[in-house]
Amino acid sequence: MTATPVLASTREELRSWRAQRPGRVALVPTMGALHEGHASLMRTAREHADTVVVSVFVNPLQFGEGEDLDRYPRTLDADLDVCAAEGVDVVFAPSVDEVYPHGVRSERGVTVDPGRLGDILDGESRPGHFTGVLTVVAKLLGLVQPDVAVFGQKDYQQLALITRMVGDLCLPVEVVGAETVREADGLALSSRNRYLDADQRIAAVALSRALRAARERAAYGVPSARWAAMRVLKAEPGVELDYLALTGVDLGEPPAHGEGRILVAARLGTTRLIDNMPIVFDTLPQAGTPTGGPTTHERSS
Ligand code: PAF
Repeated sequence: MTATPVLASTREELRSWRAQRPGRVALVPTMGALHEGHASLMRTAREHADTVVVSVFVNPLQFGEGEDLDRYPRTLDADLDVCAAEGVDVVFAPSVDEVYPHGVRSERGVTVDPGRLGDILDGESRPGHFTGVLTVVAKLLGLVQPDVAVFGQKDYQQLALITRMVGDLCLPVEVVGAETVREADGLALSSRNRYLDADQRIAAVALSRALRAARERAAYGVPSARWAAMRVLKAEPGVELDYLALTGVDLGEPPAHGEGRILVAARLGTTRLIDNMPIVFDTLPQAGTPTGGPTTHERSS
């Protein structure tokens, strides 16, 4: 199906379109540069609603100084083609002024405080990032008023924070987390993969390989799983580790037994990639695996 979606670029256009849509509405917030991972979020959205809205907005508030805001790919025409192919009904692609009428970091602008969960992992590496994410997501939810909002599990901490914000602020929307889509060799799809040169693209597979190696050792406990992942990451000189974290499903301490999460962030040249997977810990006895060092988080510095 390739019907052209309605393109709304102002709040007013969106509002007048929204008033005519009585059925269930699903929102897929994106920053554009759409790929198969986004297309799969759109298909998930369609399972939950009659109308699918995709927002395309490179949100300056979630980029820190020296990050890739200026070079972040802006590809609206190609994005509209992806949305058309997925049967999306509306694309909301506002300007920065439309979203931040008081200015991006204006003292008059109200922002959302992510709390302590926003200070760890990506929040520690990218101070202020999650304030930017939650603020723009709250605005988009207010503007689109969807019944359902779909986010990728690839940004696991973001998904956890958005779920918490929706609960804590009593926002009337259901948050759905969709599975990560991967290349055949395991690399998680990301708009930033297009920054990688050929050698970095090969090295980038170490992230998902490390996560899988940890999962295979997780039956022997948290230190063993961490050791297995670090071994893969250290063997790849093109990968500069930011963090490797083994956590509970809520991003707290990992359980001795049961379900948790393993998350990694690393730089390949100037490109920062993240990935994560579910992991099931246990404590089977074993011999020969070092257990020293931090049990949950490992940072490069
Ligand atoms: O995941 C993203 O692409 C962004 O963080 C989001 C949720 C669209 C907010 O800008």
